[in-house]
Amino acid sequence: MSFQPPKGTYDVVAGATQPVGDPGAWRVLLGEWDRWCARFGYPLVMTPIFEATELFERGVGDTTEVVNRQMYTFTDKGGRSMTLRPEGTAGVVRAYLESGSQGAWKGAYSGPMFRYERPQKGRYRQFWQLGVEYMDVEGPTADAEVVELGFRFLTAVGVPGLLTRLNSLGCRDCRPAYLESLREFLRARVDELSPGSPELIDLNPLRILDSQDDGAELDGAPSMTDHLCQDCADHFEAVKGGLDEVGVPFMVDPRLVRGLDYYTRTAFEYIGTELNAAQDAVGGGGRYDGLAETIGGRRAPGVGLALGADRIVLSIGEFDGPTVGVYLVSEVGPGPALVAASSLRSEGIDVDFDTEGRSVKAQFRSASRSGAPVTVVLGDGDQVDVRTAGDRALMSLREVPGYVRRAVT
Ligand code: HAM
Repeated sequence: MSFQPPKGTYDVVAGATQPVGDPGAWRVLLGEWDRWCARFGYPLVMTPIFEATELFERGVGDTTEVVNRQMYTFTDKGGRSMTLRPEGTAGVVRAYLESGSQGAWKGAYSGPMFRYERPQKGRYRQFWQLGVEYMDVEGPTADAEVVELGFRFLTAVGVPGLLTRLNSLGCRDCRPAYLESLREFLRARVDELSPGSPELIDLNPLRILDSQDDGAELDGAPSMTDHLCQDCADHFEAVKGGLDEVGVPFMVDPRLVRGLDYYTRTAFEYIGTELNAAQDAVGGGGRYDGLAETIGGRRAPGVGLALGADRIVLSIGEFDGPTVGVYLVSEVGPGPALVAASSLRSEGIDVDFDTEGRSVKAQFRSASRSGAPVTVVLGDGDQVDVRTAGDRALMSLREVPGYVRRAVT
């Protein structure tokens, strides 16, 4: 029996060397995400980790890399084809349609996604996305607000070298003509394209623009932004205007197409320059006005984003996470410590202590390893001995919460 996690996955375990991030970093990140989603008015949405395979084939698109090569698909005991979700949007849109809700609707999620990819640093087979979806909204202000949420969050947690790339992919009215002119351009260069690309010319030419292998060959390729219909052009201008108004910097990148088929109009990506080139996107998203209909529902335009939590943790490195506030050292055994800890916790103080009755010396070692800013020594008397890095005082247990709050802030 091997104790290693499966290839392309990893553990986050206190006390171990962490391949991606330590438990404290993850707690800070998930807590911050929760706070920023609340600030932008997003309630939680939770959907199953597996869905009917057809949902992703139709929603994400059966000519995409994700659906063609990367899905974890299995037949369940009832003979149904199921897939571990490779992304969150299709499931959330399905859940929204199923809920019968009408009108503007928001949902925020956080959880594991699964793609059978070649693993490397920053690219995993099970990875963690932080996402939001904003449904039944059509105006460009929604797009700007979603892009702003991702930018504010990534800035707040300190992703270094953050850059936002923005593009418009048009709509079903203006995109076909653009795709034709792109095909024409590609056909003229078919011999120069990397293997695999020529067959995409008819199938999904946008994917060639997205490819890492075709670079210089694509210089001078027609860009979608020059082919937008008036409505799409106005929408794009208004998204850019909104971002300018709220002070979110971005660069327009006509080569940004994204790897999932459901996007219309706005598409964006956040780049963190600290990661290597292949995995530099810490997040991305866009508008998907046709997705609800593609999966068999009513028309419900929407916009959303997903951030790669694994990549965020990797690019930040050290987090200044809060530790437990108090480590309780007991000279009178674990029983009284349990009672004292309970009373401090009921006052909202984070407490840890030794339940095993180890020596006082060993407890002090645990106190220092815990990183707690305050150590409280419990003895025979009525008063406890409270110690911080620069201070030491005797007080009753009831006075400790106030002292800790003053000492920690
Ligand atoms: P996506 O660009 O496929 O978009 O994924 C979003 C982010 O997830 C990526 O930018 C990256 O940070 C992270 N990610 C993707 N694959 C991996 C992997 N194998 N290992 C580690 N991180 C990864 C979507 O998934 C869309 N659902 C986003 C969206 C929401 N669009 C509208 N609403």
